[in-house]
Amino acid sequence: MRHFKHDFEMTNKSSEVEDTVQHSEHNIEQNIRLSCSGVEDRVQYWQARWATGQSQWHSEKPHQYLVKYLDQLVTGDAKIRIFLPLCGKAGDLNWLYQAGHTVLGVEGVPFVVEQFFRENKIEHEKTSMQDINGWKFQSKDGRLTIYACDFFLLTPAILGPIDAVYDRGALEAVSPNDRINYVRVMQSLVGPEFRYVLNTYEYDDTMFQGPPRNIPRDEVFNLFADFCEVDILEEEDESDAAADKFNLEWMVKVVYLLKPALQ
Ligand SMILES: C[S@@+](CC[C@H](N)C(=O)[O-])C[C@H]1O[C@@H](n2cnc3c(N)ncnc32)[C@H](O)[C@@H]1O
Repeated sequence: MRHFKHDFEMTNKSSEVEDTVQHSEHNIEQNIRLSCSGVEDRVQYWQARWATGQSQWHSEKPHQYLVKYLDQLVTGDAKIRIFLPLCGKAGDLNWLYQAGHTVLGVEGVPFVVEQFFRENKIEHEKTSMQDINGWKFQSKDGRLTIYACDFFLLTPAILGPIDAVYDRGALEAVSPNDRINYVRVMQSLVGPEFRYVLNTYEYDDTMFQGPPRNIPRDEVFNLFADFCEVDILEEEDESDAAADKFNLEWMVKVVYLLKPALQ
């Protein structure tokens, strides 16, 4: 089992983290990386980013490709059980919940999950779960559940059946060394008729290493080849934004639809 407890204990060290706000943004980023290079510390990097207000990916609004491709995920069923890996406190969660779907998420930084329920004024219960070394946060009506734990500790028995996955800022956030394992866990979690929308970026990673990380399309096809039919729904040139944000010459956003491979 991975040492996840360490990450949760960091909530008590917020004053140490706050000290780093004095440095320039570049130094903060470097400090976070240097202190979080071990596998067991994979969530600590993110915890420090949340704690220092560096959560530029976050929006209270639903993500544009979730709105655009929701019908690819729902496929005729009025209501689905949809999973958002590495969910943060994304506006996607509440948007799907308000639409009547059953929503499941996993987020490694517990105070972010606390914030999500508080900011959205959703009555909930918080239960400690030893097997994931974390907590289960569930709305009173049982339709919205977020596990505050390491994604890699989830099992089908914990999560239950999954009809659909919306993956934004998730596969593109994990370390390249963890990608195969990430996809193995995901394979174990999805149901037999799943639909999965995956967001990725492609760019020259000799110039910038992310996150969001570069994931070439060959790698996406290879990672999911065992159990998925993989189609590209959309590609968008994001070079202008990438020049400003990451000093990159080019960047392409690629949105995929994954579904069970034909047997
Ligand atoms: C780039 S953010 C994306 C959040 C969200 N998907 C969104 O679109 O706003 C990545 C999130 O994954 C969380 N995270 C990173 N590694 C994780 C892990 N191994 N298990 C659970 N959560 C993790 C981070 O704390 C962070 O909130």
